[in-house]
Amino acid sequence: MIVTTDQLFKIAYGKYAVGAYNINNAEQAMGLFRGCVQSKAPFIIQISKGARKYTDKRMLEAIIRAAEEIFPEAVFAVHLDHGDEETCYDCIKSGFYSSVMIDASHEPFEKNVEITKRVVDAAHKKGISVEAELGMLGGVEEDIKVDEGNACLTDPKEAAQFIKATGCDSLAAAIGTSHGAYKFKGHQSLHFEVLEAIKKLAPGFPLVMHGSSSVPKSEVDRINAAGGKLADAVGVDENEYLPAAKLGVTKINIDTDGRLVWTRVHREFFRDKPTEFDFRPPGKIFIEEYANFIAHKNGKLGSAGQLDDVRAKVSKKK
Ligand code: G3H
Ligand code: 13P
Ligand code: ZN
Repeated sequence: MIVTTDQLFKIAYGKYAVGAYNINNAEQAMGLFRGCVQSKAPFIIQISKGARKYTDKRMLEAIIRAAEEIFPEAVFAVHLDHGDEETCYDCIKSGFYSSVMIDASHEPFEKNVEITKRVVDAAHKKGISVEAELGMLGGVEEDIKVDEGNACLTDPKEAAQFIKATGCDSLAAAIGTSHGAYKFKGHQSLHFEVLEAIKKLAPGFPLVMHGSSSVPKSEVDRINAAGGKLADAVGVDENEYLPAAKLGVTKINIDTDGRLVWTRVHREFFRDKPTEFDFRPPGKIFIEEYANFIAHKNGKLGSAGQLDDVRAKVSKKK
């Protein structure tokens, strides 16, 4: 059942985080739904601009509609990840999405407010909620690359001002994470002090953590042992997800870790079976491994086991 993001946020706020997982194809969708039903967790499907272009946005929508029928127990929201203004309007118009993200974080504060507010006004007319971003994460997002030097943490006072000025429904705050597989050097922690300060100034307001993959060393090692050449990298400590959730992080975005599962499964499969050329056997292994990975993440986010409670409290998005 597709629900609004808002409903999920109201139930989860301050208790646990809802996993927001990016999907691009049918195999990811099957694994995601299976893993969430298996672990009894509500979830958010995220679709990036790149995912909409990969095959066709209608193909992804059809895959998700089919998965909804195959897994009638699933309760989830559909979200546009890192949208620009034009893509936000397209998603708002389509009626399929529960929420959109307008990412104008690379713009100066005033311009970010102006763009975000326009999207909020259009979305709210259709009952769709809006995630905005303030502060800058390092790493690569679509075609915009931010080097670590230019990445900057969200200023809590500006965050409170931004929320008020735009009327956005959730805020992606930069708290030290970055997108992709190369996040931290050595052990680094999230900036909990930023979350605490925002929570004081905007109590009850849902925050979003981007760049939340943990980039497990075991996964990187297996990929490299099967011919990959990924540099050593460290991601977010999974044990910091729940403490962040208690401070208002209600949506946690994970994409890279899922890509690592795909890469490991396929590299190992074709290394061990060099005469194989049917892509379905590794595809089946991937779906199973991806489902286990999702169930594991939901355990860390605290969303595992919440499905019955959520189902009793939500209604289908109109
Ligand atoms: O933050 C970006 C997400 O990981 C989506 O990545 O734009 O390559 O689909 P993508
Ligand atoms: P990762 O690259 O850490 O998986 O972050 C994904 C993300 O923030 C999607 O919006
Ligand atoms: Zn992101």
